Amino acid sequence: MQHFDSINWPESLSAQRFIAEFWQQKPLYIPNAFPGFENPLPADELGGLACEPEVASRMLIESRGEKPWELRQGPFEPEIFDWLGEEGWALMVGDLDKVLPDLRGYLTPFRFIPDWRIDDLMASFAPPGGSVGPHFDHYDVFLWQVEGTRTWHIGAEPDSGYQLLPDTDVKIIADPQFTETFNVSPGDLLYLPPGYAHHGVAETACITWSVGFRAPSAPELANGWTDEATQSLTDSIPLTDPAFTPQNNPGEISREARDRLRQSVAEALTNSDERFDRWLGKHLTDRVADLNLNTDVDGASLIAELVNGRAGLERRADIRFAFQLIDDVCYFYAGGQEHALPQATAEALCQDWQWQHQALAQLLDLTGASEIVAELLNAGFMEVYDV
Ligand code: SIN
Ligand code: CO
Repeated sequence: MQHFDSINWPESLSAQRFIAEFWQQKPLYIPNAFPGFENPLPADELGGLACEPEVASRMLIESRGEKPWELRQGPFEPEIFDWLGEEGWALMVGDLDKVLPDLRGYLTPFRFIPDWRIDDLMASFAPPGGSVGPHFDHYDVFLWQVEGTRTWHIGAEPDSGYQLLPDTDVKIIADPQFTETFNVSPGDLLYLPPGYAHHGVAETACITWSVGFRAPSAPELANGWTDEATQSLTDSIPLTDPAFTPQNNPGEISREARDRLRQSVAEALTNSDERFDRWLGKHLTDRVADLNLNTDVDGASLIAELVNGRAGLERRADIRFAFQLIDDVCYFYAGGQEHALPQATAEALCQDWQWQHQALAQLLDLTGASEIVAELLNAGFMEVYDV
């Protein structure tokens, strides 16, 4: 498997300049972002994954389906590929970084963006002429051409007022206004901020990876935080009434009362910055799906195997780690759980996802590392593998 530490930025660009000038602002085409790149997951294996029940796959059928741009959800029967024929469809397989944990190494070049923003690595396959139609997405995406060639047509401005085709399963732009065209080949990268119209038409049979980034929305955060913040409050704390003006009409909800009630809600929700931050750490690393975690292990004896150098240690690909500093205390988060840890230990755990031999010995030497690793093994968030 190849390894790329970073994007081969065009001259004068760097991760820092990319964030300042392009991220969430405008598209960027980076030819030869990964020199010498070779596709590690050929189309027939991708098709095989789409037939497996535990893999999230989708198919868009342009005109041969029951209606234009028909969306079908996997798993698929292998025979569908014979029926589909050689044009007019696209297959998408999501969460590849979790389904095939070895592929997560391909996310390394994007780790200048925080882990809590990453959504998944998705692959799409299309036969010549195939596409998922002109559309826009609500998230930031890097489109990594991995096999064959594709022509991307990109709109000039993000616009939410697109005319959409009526009655399709997915939103397809009816009147796309494209202003730029890029012909991409393996190793090329195209970054798109949310909202930009795009249409990628396969020139040859082709595979494109999407490295997608999401941020939690304000309503989602507000919902979660309201639950958390109000948990410790009970109905038995009554609203306190300072002296108020006797009312002429008992039906009036006075300005005074409204201010007091709004104030009580604001106080309930902003009771402490630290509490919010610590809830956020758990929320941003929380498990999104029901995971089949192996908790039937004895972390302490696995540590002995690790110390003997007979095994490697890895984080499960579907578990998020993060840390934050609050007033000099370092809090480490794993799968929605919080642990206070020495900063160097938390940083080491977040920096990599696999350790063996010397790197493993260095990790376990850090203060508190053996204890937290044993706990993470017990929780099923980390696992050992044979080396
Ligand atoms: C594709 O690769 O065609 C789908 C990815 C996208 O357009 O968002
Ligand atoms: Co898209």
